[in-house]
Amino acid sequence: MAAVTELHAYRDAIADCTRCALAAGRTQVVFGSGDPGADLMFVGEAPGFHEDKQGVPFVGAAGKLLDQLLAGIGLSRSDVFVANVLKCRPPGNRDPMPDEIEACEGHLWKQIELIQPRVVATLGNFATKLLSGRPTGITRVHGQEQETTLGGRRVLLYPIYHPAAALYTPRMLDVLKSDFARIPELLGREVAPQPEPVFLTPVTAEPAVQLGLF
Ligand code: URA
Repeated sequence: MAAVTELHAYRDAIADCTRCALAAGRTQVVFGSGDPGADLMFVGEAPGFHEDKQGVPFVGAAGKLLDQLLAGIGLSRSDVFVANVLKCRPPGNRDPMPDEIEACEGHLWKQIELIQPRVVATLGNFATKLLSGRPTGITRVHGQEQETTLGGRRVLLYPIYHPAAALYTPRMLDVLKSDFARIPELLGREVAPQPEPVFLTPVTAEPAVQLGLF
Protein backbone atom coordinates (compact mmCIF):
# COMPACT_ATOMS: atom_id res chain seq x y z
CA MET A 1 0.00 0.00 0.00
CA ALA A 2 1.33 3.50 -0.83
CA ALA A 3 2.37 5.51 2.24
CA VAL A 4 -0.38 8.12 1.60
CA THR A 5 -3.09 5.49 1.54
CA GLU A 6 -1.54 3.83 4.57
CA LEU A 7 -1.57 7.12 6.47
CA HIS A 8 -5.23 7.65 5.67
CA ALA A 9 -6.01 4.06 6.59
CA TYR A 10 -4.23 4.59 9.90
CA ARG A 11 -6.19 7.82 10.51
CA ASP A 12 -9.45 5.95 9.92
CA ALA A 13 -8.33 3.06 12.12
CA ILE A 14 -7.72 5.28 15.15
CA ALA A 15 -10.83 7.44 14.80
CA ASP A 16 -12.39 5.41 17.64
CA CYS A 17 -9.23 5.22 19.76
CA THR A 18 -9.84 4.51 23.45
CA ARG A 19 -6.23 4.14 24.57
CA CYS A 20 -6.70 6.77 27.28
CA ALA A 21 -9.43 8.51 29.26
CA LEU A 22 -9.43 11.57 26.96
CA ALA A 23 -11.57 9.55 24.55
CA ALA A 24 -14.57 10.09 26.83
CA GLY A 25 -14.49 13.89 26.59
CA ARG A 26 -13.41 14.54 23.01
CA THR A 27 -15.55 15.58 20.05
CA GLN A 28 -13.18 13.73 17.72
CA VAL A 29 -9.63 12.48 17.30
CA VAL A 30 -7.48 15.24 15.78
CA PHE A 31 -5.13 13.12 13.70
CA GLY A 32 -3.14 15.85 11.95
CA SER A 33 -3.30 17.50 8.56
CA GLY A 34 -1.26 18.49 5.56
CA ASP A 35 0.88 16.73 2.98
CA PRO A 36 1.19 12.99 3.81
CA GLY A 37 4.58 12.98 2.07
CA ALA A 38 5.88 16.23 3.59
CA ASP A 39 9.61 16.78 4.14
CA LEU A 40 8.76 19.03 7.07
CA MET A 41 6.59 17.93 9.96
CA PHE A 42 5.53 19.96 13.00
CA VAL A 43 4.57 18.36 16.28
CA GLY A 44 2.62 20.45 18.79
CA GLU A 45 1.12 19.57 22.15
CA ALA A 46 -2.57 18.69 22.00
CA PRO A 47 -5.78 19.89 20.38
CA GLY A 48 -7.53 22.82 22.05
CA PHE A 49 -11.18 23.81 21.97
CA HIS A 50 -11.35 24.81 18.29
CA GLU A 51 -9.19 21.92 17.09
CA ASP A 52 -11.43 19.46 18.94
CA LYS A 53 -14.51 20.93 17.25
CA GLN A 54 -13.04 21.16 13.74
CA GLY A 55 -10.84 18.05 13.78
CA VAL A 56 -7.83 20.00 12.46
CA PRO A 57 -4.69 20.95 14.47
CA PHE A 58 -3.68 24.57 15.02
CA VAL A 59 -6.80 26.36 13.84
CA GLY A 60 -6.91 28.88 16.73
CA ALA A 61 -4.74 31.92 17.39
CA ALA A 62 -1.54 29.85 17.65
CA GLY A 63 -2.43 28.28 14.31
CA LYS A 64 -2.76 31.69 12.67
CA LEU A 65 0.72 32.55 13.89
CA LEU A 66 2.02 29.22 12.58
CA ASP A 67 0.51 30.08 9.17
CA GLN A 68 2.24 33.48 9.19
CA LEU A 69 5.57 31.96 10.15
CA LEU A 70 5.23 29.40 7.37
CA ALA A 71 4.36 32.11 4.85
CA GLY A 72 7.52 33.95 5.97
CA ILE A 73 9.61 31.04 4.65
CA GLY A 74 7.53 30.59 1.51
CA LEU A 75 5.48 27.61 2.72
CA SER A 76 1.84 26.94 3.49
CA ARG A 77 0.02 24.33 5.55
CA SER A 78 -0.46 22.13 2.49
CA ASP A 79 3.35 21.85 2.10
CA VAL A 80 3.91 20.44 5.59
CA PHE A 81 2.29 17.97 7.96
CA VAL A 82 1.10 19.20 11.35
CA ALA A 83 0.31 16.84 14.23
CA ASN A 84 0.32 16.82 18.02
CA VAL A 85 1.71 14.66 20.81
CA LEU A 86 -1.88 14.01 21.97
CA LYS A 87 -4.60 13.42 19.44
CA CYS A 88 -7.46 14.27 21.82
CA ARG A 89 -8.21 17.44 23.75
CA PRO A 90 -7.35 17.46 27.46
CA PRO A 91 -10.23 19.00 29.43
CA GLY A 92 -9.88 22.76 29.90
CA ASN A 93 -6.72 22.65 27.74
CA ARG A 94 -4.67 21.43 30.69
CA ASP A 95 -1.18 20.01 30.12
CA PRO A 96 -0.93 16.44 28.81
CA MET A 97 -0.43 13.86 31.57
CA PRO A 98 2.39 11.28 31.41
CA ASP A 99 -0.03 8.34 31.08
CA GLU A 100 -1.84 10.10 28.20
CA ILE A 101 1.44 10.74 26.39
CA GLU A 102 2.47 7.13 26.89
CA ALA A 103 -0.87 5.86 25.57
CA CYS A 104 -0.82 8.16 22.53
CA GLU A 105 2.83 8.24 21.48
CA GLY A 106 2.53 5.12 19.31
CA HIS A 107 0.25 7.08 16.98
CA LEU A 108 2.91 9.76 16.51
CA TRP A 109 5.68 7.22 15.85
CA LYS A 110 3.47 5.58 13.23
CA GLN A 111 2.77 8.96 11.58
CA ILE A 112 6.49 9.73 11.37
CA GLU A 113 7.17 6.27 9.98
CA LEU A 114 4.58 6.73 7.22
CA ILE A 115 5.20 10.40 6.37
CA GLN A 116 9.00 10.01 6.39
CA PRO A 117 9.82 13.70 6.95
CA ARG A 118 13.39 14.97 6.70
CA VAL A 119 12.94 17.61 9.40
CA VAL A 120 10.69 17.27 12.46
CA ALA A 121 10.15 20.60 14.21
CA THR A 122 8.88 20.16 17.75
CA LEU A 123 6.77 23.03 19.05
CA GLY A 124 7.36 23.57 22.77
CA ASN A 125 8.28 21.38 25.69
CA PHE A 126 6.04 18.36 25.41
CA ALA A 127 6.91 17.43 21.84
CA THR A 128 10.58 18.29 22.34
CA LYS A 129 10.98 16.13 25.43
CA LEU A 130 9.10 13.21 23.92
CA LEU A 131 10.93 13.17 20.59
CA SER A 132 14.39 13.97 21.94
CA GLY A 133 13.97 11.43 24.74
CA ARG A 134 15.58 13.98 27.05
CA PRO A 135 14.20 16.09 29.90
CA THR A 136 15.93 19.32 28.77
CA GLY A 137 13.39 22.09 28.27
CA ILE A 138 12.74 24.16 25.16
CA THR A 139 14.36 27.32 26.53
CA ARG A 140 17.74 25.59 26.51
CA VAL A 141 17.44 23.59 23.28
CA HIS A 142 15.40 25.74 20.89
CA GLY A 143 17.09 26.38 17.58
CA GLN A 144 19.55 23.50 18.05
CA GLU A 145 18.99 20.81 15.44
CA GLN A 146 20.13 17.28 16.05
CA GLU A 147 20.25 14.18 13.90
CA THR A 148 18.29 11.33 15.35
CA THR A 149 16.27 8.26 14.40
CA LEU A 150 12.48 8.62 14.58
CA GLY A 151 10.01 6.11 13.20
CA GLY A 152 12.96 4.07 11.95
CA ARG A 153 14.35 6.96 9.82
CA ARG A 154 17.19 9.39 10.23
CA VAL A 155 15.75 12.90 10.61
CA LEU A 156 16.79 16.32 11.79
CA LEU A 157 14.96 17.10 15.01
CA TYR A 158 14.51 20.84 15.40
CA PRO A 159 13.02 22.15 18.66
CA ILE A 160 11.40 25.59 18.54
CA TYR A 161 9.09 27.57 20.80
CA HIS A 162 5.39 26.80 20.73
CA PRO A 163 3.56 29.58 18.81
CA ALA A 164 1.05 29.89 21.68
CA ALA A 165 3.90 30.82 24.02
CA ALA A 166 5.15 33.45 21.56
CA LEU A 167 1.73 35.03 20.97
CA TYR A 168 1.92 37.43 23.88
CA THR A 169 5.68 37.63 24.46
CA PRO A 170 7.37 39.78 21.80
CA ARG A 171 10.88 38.65 22.79
CA MET A 172 9.91 35.01 22.35
CA LEU A 173 8.26 35.81 19.03
CA ASP A 174 11.53 37.28 17.77
CA VAL A 175 13.37 34.11 18.76
CA LEU A 176 10.71 31.93 17.14
CA LYS A 177 10.96 33.95 13.91
CA SER A 178 14.72 33.63 13.75
CA ASP A 179 14.59 29.89 14.54
CA PHE A 180 11.94 29.52 11.82
CA ALA A 181 14.15 31.34 9.32
CA ARG A 182 16.68 28.47 9.52
CA ILE A 183 14.15 25.82 8.42
CA PRO A 184 14.84 26.13 4.64
CA GLU A 185 18.54 25.56 5.27
CA LEU A 186 17.76 22.49 7.40
CA LEU A 187 15.46 21.09 4.72
CA GLY A 188 18.34 21.24 2.24
CA ARG A 189 20.73 19.46 4.52
CA GLU A 190 21.79 15.85 3.94
CA VAL A 191 21.21 13.70 6.96
CA ALA A 192 23.77 10.93 7.26
CA PRO A 193 22.26 7.45 7.07
CA GLN A 194 22.07 5.51 10.27
CA PRO A 195 25.43 3.92 11.00
CA GLU A 196 25.42 0.15 10.49
CA PRO A 197 25.39 -1.69 13.80
CA VAL A 198 28.78 -3.07 14.57
CA PHE A 199 28.64 -6.76 15.38
CA LEU A 200 31.67 -8.20 17.04
CA THR A 201 32.74 -11.38 15.30
CA PRO A 202 32.58 -14.21 17.76
CA VAL A 203 35.99 -15.16 18.93
CA THR A 204 36.69 -18.75 17.98
CA ALA A 205 38.83 -20.54 20.44
CA GLU A 206 42.39 -20.76 19.24
CA PRO A 207 44.12 -24.04 19.89
CA ALA A 208 46.20 -23.57 22.98
CA VAL A 209 49.67 -22.57 22.05
CA GLN A 210 52.23 -24.82 23.63
CA LEU A 211 54.65 -22.63 25.36
CA GLY A 212 58.10 -23.98 25.16
CA LEU A 213 58.34 -24.41 28.86
CA PHE A 214 60.24 -27.65 28.88
N1 URA B 1 -1.75 23.94 20.35
C1 URA B 1 -1.25 22.73 20.03
O1 URA B 1 -0.22 22.30 20.55
N2 URA B 1 -1.86 22.01 19.12
C2 URA B 1 -2.94 22.43 18.51
O2 URA B 1 -3.44 21.68 17.67
C3 URA B 1 -3.46 23.69 18.84
C4 URA B 1 -2.84 24.43 19.77
